[in-house]
Amino acid sequence: PDLYAVIGSPIQHSKSPLIHNAFAQQTQQSLSYEAVLGDENDFKGSVDAFRARGGCGLNVTVPFKQDAFQYATEHSERALRAGAVNTLVFREDGSVLAENTDGVGIVTDIQNNHQVLISDKRVLILGAGGAVRGILEPLLSQRPAEVVIANRTVSKAEELATDFSDLGCVAGCGFEAVEGVFDLIINGTSASLAGELPPVPEAVIGAETVCYDMMYGADQTVFNAWADRLGAKKTIDGLGMLVEQAAESFFIWRGIRPETGAVLEKQRALL
Ligand code: ATR
Repeated sequence: PDLYAVIGSPIQHSKSPLIHNAFAQQTQQSLSYEAVLGDENDFKGSVDAFRARGGCGLNVTVPFKQDAFQYATEHSERALRAGAVNTLVFREDGSVLAENTDGVGIVTDIQNNHQVLISDKRVLILGAGGAVRGILEPLLSQRPAEVVIANRTVSKAEELATDFSDLGCVAGCGFEAVEGVFDLIINGTSASLAGELPPVPEAVIGAETVCYDMMYGADQTVFNAWADRLGAKKTIDGLGMLVEQAAESFFIWRGIRPETGAVLEKQRALL
């Protein structure tokens, strides 16, 4: 069987092996997918060793998404925009293609799994780190009416807005400066990890607002609990994004698109 893996540090809690092995079984693809603990001081050495074992492709997670960008010899337009990659393809001619499937993952989860269309909507994104940079191009490709990026460090939000301004109407600001009601709010800060809430005005949430937290867990995230309390129409966590980005990577490697519904349900039950 063809060999694939997810590389990160730490890696033992990664859900990717279960997800990809389920995809392989479902699509009857002969492949094995494992978890590889990368050397934080030698990402290249870790990847070279994996390729020497016959590895055909890698998913890349914390803290190696930028290293993977450097390692690759070719980058998709999307990966170039993201500045970080979560998918590598090792081609037979020795070249290494870099892709970032996180953005496609969140857009597919929002639009296909939750039937929320992004086109013409007012979108608020909280956070301006690597996770947000990674999703902006696919999000803007759906032609929202407007995207506002709000961040604790205002300069980072402004910088991101400038970097993506050729793709649509994007503005950056601080949390307190956010004005009006939004159709879709995406929390891409890591504040949830600390159980904290980005201090955005409560008025951003109306009866038609859909909220998406890129985080997930066994319990509802702090952000989604806050949004529910304020009467949001719907709150979604990031587990679907995880499964959908995996499906997109699987498609890039194997040319076949797995069915995600059952795999997502299984992952939900395992939380
Ligand atoms: P990631 O790869 O998860 O995006 P990152 O690049 O370190 O990680 O970005 C983390 C994001 O969460 C940033 O937008 C950060 O805000 P700053 O740019 O001001 O640092 C945001 N963040 C982290 N902790 C936060 C908190 N307690 N409240 C609000 N925002 C927070």
